[in-house]
Amino acid sequence: MEKRISIAIDGPAAAGKSTVAKIIAENLSYIYVDTGAMYRALTYQAQQQGVKLESEEALLRLLNETEIELKPSENGQIVSVNGKEVTNEIRSAEVTNSVSIVAKHRSVREEMVVRQQKLAQNGGVVMDGRDIGTHVLPHAEVKIFLLASVEERAQRRHEENVRKGFPSNLEQHKIDIARRDKIDSEREVAPLKKADDAIEIDTTALSIEGVVEKILSIIHERVGML
Ligand code: CDP
Ligand code: CDP
Repeated sequence: MEKRISIAIDGPAAAGKSTVAKIIAENLSYIYVDTGAMYRALTYQAQQQGVKLESEEALLRLLNETEIELKPSENGQIVSVNGKEVTNEIRSAEVTNSVSIVAKHRSVREEMVVRQQKLAQNGGVVMDGRDIGTHVLPHAEVKIFLLASVEERAQRRHEENVRKGFPSNLEQHKIDIARRDKIDSEREVAPLKKADDAIEIDTTALSIEGVVEKILSIIHERVGML
């Protein structure tokens, strides 16, 4: 494809955003930006340094002295903060259950959006998150909103943990996912919401390949119209 466009993929927790975004980016030779990893990295750093997650001022100060680097790798993406790799650490239950508190703060989000827009400035990007189509890349040529039932999403996270040999409890995943969805959708600043011009895909009964195929065909059709 000649024109290198921007592709926004949003949706609730464990809907399959990062899995399909990564495959699509690879397929198109685009860069992939996991914005959730950026909020996770800040949360991790705050927990390490004992910064209160409710303090917007302290978090913004911390963010301003924190360089977050996302590097593609064979197994996904390597995440570093100030040069230290934290790829696995940012997926811990401790981070997962606190990240939505950090992501509520307006000034923190504003700084994250500046960084995310910079990463996308040359196009050729697949970015996933909660507010990409609505706030970060409002002019993205393709916007996708991925959905799946809470039960299906909890089941996917559970299977993923079992696969990786991590402790896992299906019922706990349901509770944690529903709680995070609620905070993310009800927050005042840039809540999780489908952009008016996003295409919604319910992935509950779809395989990863099925979702990728649908999105690639939407992208090819859109690029053909440019
Ligand atoms: O992969 P998973 O769905 O578990 O979450 P994630 O994409 O890593 O995002 C973690 C959290 O970061 C979300 O629950 C949101 O609270 C926050 N987030 C956000 O507010 N805005 C984004 N663009 C991306 C993530
Ligand atoms: O990024 P997000 O939190 O939206 O989800 P993910 O981490 O990409 O996907 C969560 C899990 O669901 C992964 O283990 C995927 O392999 C799995 N998945 C699936 O089973 N079927 C799909 N259609 C999409 C993802």
